[in-house]
Amino acid sequence: MTQKRQIIVTNALPYANAPLHLGHMLEYTQTDIWVRFQRMRKNDCYYMSADDAHGTPIMLTASQKGISPEEHIDKIRESHEADFKDFLISVDNYYTTHSPENQKLCEDIFKILKRNKHIEEREISQAFDQQENLFLADRYIKGTCPNCLAENQYGDNCEACGATYKPTDLINPISVLSGTKPVERESKHYFFKLSEFNDFLKDWLSKDVVTESIANKLNEWLEEGLTDWDISRDEPYFGFLIPGEDTKYFYVWLDAPIGYIAAFKNYCNHSKLDFNYFWGKDSPTELYHFIGKDIINFHALFWPSMLKSAGIRLPTKICVHGFVTINGLKMSKSRGTFILARDYLDNLDPDFLRYYYACKLSNSAEDLDLNLEDFVQKINSDLVGKVVNLASRCSKFITKGNDGYLHSEIDDKELWNIFSQSATTISENYENRNFSKATREILKLTDLANEYISDKQPWVLNKEHDNKEQVLKICSLGINLFRLIMIYLKPITPNLVRKAEDFLNETLLWDSSAHPLLNHKIKKFEPMISRIQNENIEAMLNSANDGKA
Ligand code: MSP
Ligand code: ZN
Repeated sequence: MTQKRQIIVTNALPYANAPLHLGHMLEYTQTDIWVRFQRMRKNDCYYMSADDAHGTPIMLTASQKGISPEEHIDKIRESHEADFKDFLISVDNYYTTHSPENQKLCEDIFKILKRNKHIEEREISQAFDQQENLFLADRYIKGTCPNCLAENQYGDNCEACGATYKPTDLINPISVLSGTKPVERESKHYFFKLSEFNDFLKDWLSKDVVTESIANKLNEWLEEGLTDWDISRDEPYFGFLIPGEDTKYFYVWLDAPIGYIAAFKNYCNHSKLDFNYFWGKDSPTELYHFIGKDIINFHALFWPSMLKSAGIRLPTKICVHGFVTINGLKMSKSRGTFILARDYLDNLDPDFLRYYYACKLSNSAEDLDLNLEDFVQKINSDLVGKVVNLASRCSKFITKGNDGYLHSEIDDKELWNIFSQSATTISENYENRNFSKATREILKLTDLANEYISDKQPWVLNKEHDNKEQVLKICSLGINLFRLIMIYLKPITPNLVRKAEDFLNETLLWDSSAHPLLNHKIKKFEPMISRIQNENIEAMLNSANDGKA
């Protein structure tokens, strides 16, 4: 018997600044499918998430709305939680980084880093907005590119020519917040000495924690050498005060990943789990982070270095995905391709997007296109036309012909074995996050099952001869094959599978794929899903456009 694994799984904590969109849902779907698969395999999986509640943008949005940051983040968290729930994301704890547990952990970790001499104080000079009275991050400064003279470029790089520079290099810089010219001002900052972790990171990255191509990218950065990391921000800021300071706060990217630990700590309060067992330096448990490719440096360089210094366990794997485009275009409000999770949910079944994303997801960080025409076609053809249709075309001969009882024998043992034995490869593909391979395999099986029924033509047999026994045997195998398809799809389409479980009169477990259902009474078939109509898509796009007008 293989040992039961104990795994903490996280997804990247969404900013508590705006509602979730379909790009976010790629990550949360990917994470959830993996988690549901692990649970089906009887592993203990603790799925932790939270809102990332701190930072300047959140403070500014709240002030624009005329409410406190606390009020703002509470409202957003409510909407995020509703979206998570309705997309069937099975988190065990959805918390917030603005929590007492997180504050305490941040302070404690900071003190250890300091004691280890991994924190250094330095005076630096930065752009300052005198009217708004705050230091300006690069994205809050605009001006003319010093390289190509394109106007209206951000403080860190030029979108026209691609040049990178310091905000002080811009010609005619202005503050985006007040429209005034920023001045240079000195201030003390805390730096984490990332440069001292080069060797540690090199070694850690060689241990299969990321895919090979991500490891190569990270190694390039390590070759170039890492610069120390500024982990402090001056007031006004929405975050946690740094111990011993009255006007300086932890930078949001310091407290955000610590929020993973805090969510688990909070979860321990209402479960019997032993916090230290999971987070101790040599913990035998596993820790998986699912993230997008834009935040690799934080998770695969800064975060493990901090954990190392603090004497906390390291991540087992960092699973990186690419970005969602819609109909081949970057998600953008002006193009009407900025589709909110809620716009989708108001018009379509969450299982459909989960299935579509699964069909396209691999363990690589390549971008993934949500082509809406292809989406409609794939759902209608695969799920409605092939998968559910299999149950529909077999069920009536059993309900009518045998009072709902499946036959006591398997008609075609060879075919059954192919289905049952596929559990191994499908399982490997789930484990390695090759969901596209898993779905391809499942679809191949579905085609085989439908071919079998078409070849045997039970409806003809039923008419021409008194062949009740044979018809029953064929259709019972059809239902059994449908049952295995449902088992294999369960991590991806939980809504559909719940209905199938009701129809099959059985709770589907992964191990149920080892044996068929014989002499078992099933219920009358009810349609489980219906085809997507173009109106559904149009309605979704209309609400996406409405919100952005
Ligand atoms: N708050 C940080 C993460 C902190 S983790 C300690 C953050 N938030 S985010 O809301 O901007 O993004 C959350 C996750 O969604 C990230 O992993 C990001 O890569 C992912 N995505 C955001 N837009 C996306 C797409 N268009 N496509 C795919 N994933 C995208 O980053
Ligand atoms: Zn330029």
